[in-house]
Amino acid sequence: WPFLAPYIARINALKKERNAVILAHNYMTPDIFHGIADVVGDSLQLAIEATKTDAQVIVQCGVHFMAETSKILNPDKTVLIPDMRAGCSLASSITGADVRLLRQKYPGVPVVTYVNTSAEVKAETDICCTSSNARDIVASLDSDTVIMIPDQYLAKNVARETGKRIITWAGSCEVHDRFSADEIREFRKHHPGVMVLAHPECPPEVVLEADFAGSTSGMINYVKDHRPAQVVMVTECSMGDNVAAELPGTEFMRPCNLCPHMKRITLPKVLEALEQMKEEVVVDPEIAERARGAVQRMIDFNK
Ligand code: 13P
Ligand code: SF4
Repeated sequence: WPFLAPYIARINALKKERNAVILAHNYMTPDIFHGIADVVGDSLQLAIEATKTDAQVIVQCGVHFMAETSKILNPDKTVLIPDMRAGCSLASSITGADVRLLRQKYPGVPVVTYVNTSAEVKAETDICCTSSNARDIVASLDSDTVIMIPDQYLAKNVARETGKRIITWAGSCEVHDRFSADEIREFRKHHPGVMVLAHPECPPEVVLEADFAGSTSGMINYVKDHRPAQVVMVTECSMGDNVAAELPGTEFMRPCNLCPHMKRITLPKVLEALEQMKEEVVVDPEIAERARGAVQRMIDFNK
């Protein structure tokens, strides 16, 4: 991408000047993923990396809840997001007040919150989870009934895997709930032998059609380990684009869907963020303190 090269050079130089690190999610476009990111990964990996960095500034190339998680874990650092409007349909589906009402309705039932939520929601929570540790965290809880919010599909997928009774919320990912089991079956009919990988934010009937379901990094590692001739990743389109060059023997097929929130993050906006030190992600210290407990318990679980 020759017209992007000046952006990449300028961003990489500014990172040094600002003592900044770029944490980029697997859904970023290849120019960001390969050109400027210091760390790439799924939500759990990015949260863990956020606890390890020495940089004074974190530029989060991802959506707002990811930047908030970095800030929760680093109250004294500056966390920037290149577009404040990069939201998430799951994060916007539930508020802290909703969680308090759930607790009143189901007293004593532990609350597991998907990391795709606001700091305010995390603050009302016992422990966070991501798609890569949701099953194990729910299984580890000493309770047959668990409140797991806000992704109804992830919750149903985890209920099937753990045998626990899960009380959930009506949230869903606008990218993954567009896939259907019929679409996957039809696709397999036309491409016999294709490997199908799905994200656990997909509806359970879609996950059941897949050969493997896992987090974004889980899917990438699965393809790297198995090197199929053809694969379809039932998730966001940048996933295949980012690893295709490394795996020339694998054809990455459609369907996939774009996340409009993730796609708000572009090279020009990252450059602007570093030049102007904007937009700063701020979390009320009292909320951050309470949310940190839930996020830290998740990180400790994975140690
Ligand atoms: P991962 O934690 O699997 O990277 O998922 C984040 C996300 O937003 C998926 O839609
Ligand atoms: Fe949220 Fe879905 Fe976009 Fe992930 S892909 S950030 S869950 S809207």
